[in-house]
Amino acid sequence: MVKDLFERIQNNKGPLGKWASQAEGYYVFPKLEGQLGPRMQFHGKEILNWSINDYLGLANHPEVRKADVEAAEMYGAAYPMGARMMSGHTNYHEQLENELAEFVMKEAAYLLNFGYQGMVSIIDALVTKNDVIVYDVDAHACIIDGVRLHMGKRFTYKHNDIESMEKNLQRATKLAQETGGGILFITEGVFGMRGQQGKLKEIVEMKNRYNFRLLVDDAHGFGTLGKTGAGAGEEQGCQDGIDVYFSTFAKSMANIGAFVAADKDIIDYLKYNLRSQMFAKALPMIQTIGSLKRLELLRKSSELKDKLWVNVNTLQNGLKERGFNIGDTNTCVTPVYLEGSIPEAMVMVNDLRENYNIFLSIVVYPVIPKGIILLRMIPTASHTLEDISETLAAFEAIREKLTNGTYKAIADKTTVDVS
Ligand SMILES: Cc1ncc(COP(=O)(O)O)c(C=O)c1O
Repeated sequence: MVKDLFERIQNNKGPLGKWASQAEGYYVFPKLEGQLGPRMQFHGKEILNWSINDYLGLANHPEVRKADVEAAEMYGAAYPMGARMMSGHTNYHEQLENELAEFVMKEAAYLLNFGYQGMVSIIDALVTKNDVIVYDVDAHACIIDGVRLHMGKRFTYKHNDIESMEKNLQRATKLAQETGGGILFITEGVFGMRGQQGKLKEIVEMKNRYNFRLLVDDAHGFGTLGKTGAGAGEEQGCQDGIDVYFSTFAKSMANIGAFVAADKDIIDYLKYNLRSQMFAKALPMIQTIGSLKRLELLRKSSELKDKLWVNVNTLQNGLKERGFNIGDTNTCVTPVYLEGSIPEAMVMVNDLRENYNIFLSIVVYPVIPKGIILLRMIPTASHTLEDISETLAAFEAIREKLTNGTYKAIADKTTVDVS
């Protein structure tokens, strides 16, 4: 007898879905309302928001809002129709690509409708079954899913671990010599959960000993790191050694879309082989023209980036001075590691939202080890120093309640069933 396909789905909602009945609408799928920024509405009241990736505060910047509206007025949401290759190509797309390429110091760039899909397709386009992929075990889902499409061998290395990278490069080299293929090495410029930069400088240095090409997902580095904001490669002085640079518009650019940048011959190849773009409608004009404006603001001055970093440093130093463990972040991503169970974490976040009016994201097992609670904050250029002091005071208060058992007592009374 053939089973009904939906039987499993109805009985097993998946590792996150199983929390839905307790968590939906509050811990997951919360509705943040009002204008995007540090002060938004949640469940009808104002909260101080640390959970949107609007690093430079461009989401609600008056010039950005104006550009978006003007583009919408001029072109509507449909324009252009069709894939770039067929009928969806415009001067604006080309202009944005040229400006992005210049900004990240590469010869050429190509636009992607979404970062996630774009990355999956980039990996798919760059390798054939004879090639070998080496990538960080903590890589973003878009990298993992791109690797899933690969028909050949792949090796993961321990997160940001040079020795493990080297060991896996040796294995990959041996294998590629047998298959006659090449090696694609993939890392993130910034790991978005814990805030560590990928060890790009060391990886680029390994090119002296191993023959591989380097693809970097710099979603959190673009606009926030480096002298000009060109990202983690610029910050570490090795942008040249990145063969294929990728970033989404979903963070510093406060938009939707993404891009890939590399030498011209590689971008020319991708234009004709990137299935996520060949078989999908082009990026709409609203996003394309809107991104030109955002990039103009990024290039014009470092004011927003400087403001962002004042906030990052004030928040991170304030946390460290108060004895909080923020791990080894060296970027804007600000994690706070506490010890406790998942029910305690839920009670604590509820307390933060209801009694301190602070909204942030929590990360628990299986994303991080059991018994650890990660409170993840994204400081932006729009936050104020008062926002930071308010948050630091709240953190001291919740830590006290976590350690004196207040949250455990509440959690024990309201234990959730997630079987
Ligand atoms: C590291 C990283 N790569 C890729 C993506 C996907 O980008 P997009 O939201 O444009 O699909 C994200 C999330 O936005 C990300 O954090």
